[in-house]
Amino acid sequence: MPSRVFRKTIVLEFSGNNMSNYYNMPKLPTENSPKVEIFVDDKPVMVPGDTNLLEALKAVGIETPHVCYHPYLPVSGNCRQCLVEQEGPRGRMLVISCYTPVTPGMKIYTPASSARVKNARKATQEFMLVNHPLDCPICDKAGECTLQENYMEAGQNESRLRPEYGKNYHGNPEHQFIDAKGQLRGGKHVDIGPRILLDEERCVQCDRCVRFMRSIAKDEQLQLAGRADHTYITTFPGEKLDHEYDLCVTDVCPTGAMTAKYFRFQKRVWLLSHTPTISMDDSLGANIWLDHADGRIYRVMPRCNPEVNRSWLSNTSRLAFQQFDKNRLPAIDASAIQISGGKVALVAGGTCTNEDLAALKMLKESLGDRAELFGGSLLKVGAPDGIAKSGDPVANREGLKLMGFADVAELLKRAGEFSNLITVNADLYGEDASAAKALDKISNRIALSAFDDATAKKAKVAFGIRHWSEVQGTMVNSLNILQKLSAAPTCPDEKLAPAYEVISALAGNKFGSACEAFKKAREYVPAFADITYDAIKSTGKLLGGNA
Ligand code: SF4
Ligand code: SF4
Ligand code: FES
Repeated sequence: MPSRVFRKTIVLEFSGNNMSNYYNMPKLPTENSPKVEIFVDDKPVMVPGDTNLLEALKAVGIETPHVCYHPYLPVSGNCRQCLVEQEGPRGRMLVISCYTPVTPGMKIYTPASSARVKNARKATQEFMLVNHPLDCPICDKAGECTLQENYMEAGQNESRLRPEYGKNYHGNPEHQFIDAKGQLRGGKHVDIGPRILLDEERCVQCDRCVRFMRSIAKDEQLQLAGRADHTYITTFPGEKLDHEYDLCVTDVCPTGAMTAKYFRFQKRVWLLSHTPTISMDDSLGANIWLDHADGRIYRVMPRCNPEVNRSWLSNTSRLAFQQFDKNRLPAIDASAIQISGGKVALVAGGTCTNEDLAALKMLKESLGDRAELFGGSLLKVGAPDGIAKSGDPVANREGLKLMGFADVAELLKRAGEFSNLITVNADLYGEDASAAKALDKISNRIALSAFDDATAKKAKVAFGIRHWSEVQGTMVNSLNILQKLSAAPTCPDEKLAPAYEVISALAGNKFGSACEAFKKAREYVPAFADITYDAIKSTGKLLGGNA
């Protein structure tokens, strides 16, 4: 039976029978959760009443070590690391807190009062580490590894392994084998797909990666195979792990088993600084961390925002950073930007922030009726993928609408009317060279751009500005959430300025900061009127709402 058909059969059978491995998504507490009283270590506490015990305890500051539980994956309860004791009709029983619902009046015991819980967690940890390598010094996960954290909290065992036995299980490099389909299984370096290398030896069989591919990516490419301590993670025979979201398995993997090829051995994670910002390649505006050191971005990680991208990030958004410092335009003297007589088309690309748009509006006002505002892109708008992309490549589409910019398609129709074209991070020639040909009619073309792209090459003057990863500012995403960008200190040339600074200077009223530019944006957009720049939270502000 072909593997894909086989896989579908399994899915149908399991989901039809509601069998194990097809668990429910955890119900996470919200600010509207009802509060109920429970007793933790004989003390009464008020906790969210509509969630699991692990989340409820977390809400009152009690962290419970866990490995297989992930707030955005179905609960499978297989690691048994999150044990607590619960008082029941038959006395105190060990239960897993990740799959035990909160009920009013329940009595729970944590290691703070229960030696049994403490010992059970310690034993679970020891069991999990029995076949685990001593790889921390060379492991990419070191510094953000769940096993390391749990070891400090719940483990700290002296090893009881006898070296003469060695390891005899799936991960032992000596036990790597080739299956009947010619595929390498087990061992230290398993090339599991184009972007991911599996260190099978470090896997603790939590099956988070399996659940991610099954329930979030909805393309079941990973499975646990084998039995007991020979269990291993693998793909279907002859197939690879290859999906637009496959790098998310390196995030959900609590260990250094799933490693991203692009980041392997590049940098110790504790040497990275983290800048919270927004991915400006799509109008959902996935929340991200730019992880950088020595003025260079090493990786881009999803930043959890329950309303936007949860903990997920597409490979496209994640790997885009590899081009951020390539093919950059240099800063030149602003006096090179000369606007001649006749009409002026001011064009904002999709990565322009609200601050850039406010500066362009101000420039239009300074030029009077001969200037018009256009915005957007010539790229096609796709469909939302339901994970972390809306499909619209114009990140700040809503900002353009709120500021009253006409679509660039309108400019293409009326290009002959204009004598000046100023594009800001809008690579129209690069997006669709034949459609953009209409712009050849405009004689004085000026490009403000981070990159020496096709539009910059066609321009009379090409002026280098900062990339969106290097600026502060705001954007409005496709869910109408006002989100904040922060600047990573990775700009290749300190002389490069943010677009809003250059444009506002052209308009004769230079903004000294994004905060100042946002004040101007508030004058143009009624929905921003009551919002101050500093009051925008890291998870954004729903316009016309309470987020
Ligand atoms: S996964 Fe890596 S960092 Fe974590 S305990 Fe294992 S070897 Fe150490
Ligand atoms: S590879 Fe990682 S996520 Fe997958 S089962 Fe192993 S430890 Fe868990
Ligand atoms: S976290 Fe609860 S069983 Fe794994």
